[in-house]
Amino acid sequence: MGQMIDSIAALQDYDQYRDLHWEGSFEAYLEIVRERPEVTRNAFQRVYDMIIAAGQEEYLDNKKRLTRYHFFRDDTGGGHDAVYGLDIPLMRLVHVLRAAAEGYGPERRVILLHGPVGSSKSTIARLLKKGIEDYSRSPEGALYTYEWCNLESTGLVMGSEGGVFASPMHEEPLRLIPPEWREKAIKGLNLGNTRHKVVVDGDLNPACRFIFKSLMERYKGDWSKLVANHIKVRRLLLSEKDRVGIGTFQPKDEKNQDSTELTGDVNYRKIAEYGSDSDPRAFNFDGEFNIANRGIVEFVEVLKLDVAFLYDLLGASQEHRIKPKKFAQTDIDEVILGHTNEAEYKKLLANEFMEALRDRTIKIDIPYITRLSEETRIYAKSFGQGKLKGKHVAPHTLEIAAMWAVLTRLEDPKKHNLAIIQKLKLYDGRMIPGYTQDTVKELRKDTRREGMDGISPRFVQDMLSNALVRYDEPTLNPFMVMNEIERGLKAHSLITNDEQRKKYTDLIAVVRREYEEIIKNEVQRAISADESEITKLAANYVDNVRAYTLKEKVKNRFTGRDEEPDERLMRSIEEKIDVAESRKDDFRREIMNFIGALALEGKKFQWSTNDRLRRALELKLFEDKKDTIKFTSVVSNVVDRETQEKIDAVKTRLMRDFGYDEISAQNVLEYVSSIFARGDLK
Ligand SMILES: Nc1ncnc2c1ncn2[C@@H]1O[C@H](COP(=O)(O)OP(=O)(O)OP(=O)(O)O)[C@@H](O)[C@H]1O
Ligand SMILES: [Mg+2]
Repeated sequence: MGQMIDSIAALQDYDQYRDLHWEGSFEAYLEIVRERPEVTRNAFQRVYDMIIAAGQEEYLDNKKRLTRYHFFRDDTGGGHDAVYGLDIPLMRLVHVLRAAAEGYGPERRVILLHGPVGSSKSTIARLLKKGIEDYSRSPEGALYTYEWCNLESTGLVMGSEGGVFASPMHEEPLRLIPPEWREKAIKGLNLGNTRHKVVVDGDLNPACRFIFKSLMERYKGDWSKLVANHIKVRRLLLSEKDRVGIGTFQPKDEKNQDSTELTGDVNYRKIAEYGSDSDPRAFNFDGEFNIANRGIVEFVEVLKLDVAFLYDLLGASQEHRIKPKKFAQTDIDEVILGHTNEAEYKKLLANEFMEALRDRTIKIDIPYITRLSEETRIYAKSFGQGKLKGKHVAPHTLEIAAMWAVLTRLEDPKKHNLAIIQKLKLYDGRMIPGYTQDTVKELRKDTRREGMDGISPRFVQDMLSNALVRYDEPTLNPFMVMNEIERGLKAHSLITNDEQRKKYTDLIAVVRREYEEIIKNEVQRAISADESEITKLAANYVDNVRAYTLKEKVKNRFTGRDEEPDERLMRSIEEKIDVAESRKDDFRREIMNFIGALALEGKKFQWSTNDRLRRALELKLFEDKKDTIKFTSVVSNVVDRETQEKIDAVKTRLMRDFGYDEISAQNVLEYVSSIFARGDLK
């Protein structure tokens, strides 16, 4: 064999291949069950265990203890998809799955994910489906099924089948033990007191039952001969592509719905072979319910389902049974997951014929994200730095888009004299003086249906990609995105009334103001971020404050003479952060305490570790320096060399400290300069 083939072949994991394609006798399977009874888990138990196996962490969110399941996060169990910022709804979902796994009732319900468009309902379903595929390939998630073999001489299958007939619904092999003595038989396996209790419900599917009965007659009731001669057990790998263990049903238009899509259909070619359309071997058990056996079936827009189908759905959830055309009820074992948007759900509530369905669903609300940083992650996933070929995304671009999206979802704060942007910040975990975690808790409680309305992430994703195309420039910045959103709002098909459109448009202005604040702040800091100067200023200030509080004199650094503390210098800094004359003593004492506390821990004081002081120093330095920069000159073409050097230094700091590129740094500098040039400093 060629060397290249060898080296590729070396990548293959033979042991794993052997595991995944394990085949053996029924006896060998019983041995597996004895060792690892969890291979017999039902679909709910397996799905629940899969989620738990990916790990979890607990955290406090405004005094509320929450659990984050890693399964739904990108970085761990979730593969490519991830769900951000919805830990509470996901906790509900996991609780329901747990109760179902324990057999407390939810296993007899349709789990209905309900929420506004684009709230990640499909993403959650996709994660579960993809997850169970992977899990079935792992040692922990292994499961098995069987096929009939050596049937050539029995005449039970046509010659073309080669004497083999696989369980068309991939059933658990233990179902081959007749229900009358199944329980005793399982007890006889001596499983001891293992973690997992083996319980196998349900009977064989009609085709396998037919073969089973015929073979029992042939062997005069000797079951042991039947399994020894004709049963091969094999590992089952779930795969949506292969239509094994995972089904998806999407209603097409109403006239075209046909129940065979759910429960299977006769195979006309085989009817000719087997001679009768009531012969179960001539039936394709390939409806969505059939093929999803052992795993998950997802119903997209479940409430658009034709009423005739609903009976199938009700039976499937409540009884774990489906009724293939012309055949007896057939047992299934699968998680039934549906999703729906609000409009359809309202129709369900209004329709009394649907009461039966309503009664058999567990609704889980999947709202939009209301936490800015979590929303930003959605966009960072596809538009983040480094994700776009050859394009730079200016700092705050995605954050600004996310901010607007979250604002459209927040209800106006009724109390506390809060602006909506402040509410957004509090929700995002930022501190605002005068508000506590209790305020946030109260704010959250004080809403009606927050997160169920507003703009979907999908719209924002579309606006981001539109902006990328429209402004075919090397850098994407927040202004481009805001403009694109404004334009997009005019044509948004889901916004039906002008009042709402106006509200959303006004929120762009709120976001723009917030963005201006952010970049003003960054430019100021870049201008004053001359480390040596700010350190000097800080040292000078602290010397004076120390002398002032200790009622001592300050040694002048140049003359070496003792002087009174420089009151004008101290005040010029303190005023920058609104320390009133009457409060200055407190503030200075506070600073000294801060330094003292650090000294006790053996640490040296650094101006940057005290947020308020840092801000005050930066502003003061900015004020001292702003005239030397001459903001008007940033925007003009004629600049003398000295000024240009200063401007370049600021740009460099913007790039170094805040992640700007050349273009975006120039942009914000120009923009902020035009604001400063107008004299707007605060
Ligand atoms: N909480 C979230 N975390 C991560 N991504 C999200 C979240 N919410 C929405 N998205 C993203 O928004 C887009 C729409 O999500 P998805 O298709 O899952 O929504 P949906 O609820 O099924 O929408 P629809 O009701 O229109 O079918 C996807 O790109 C998805 O990744
Ligand atoms: Mg969807």
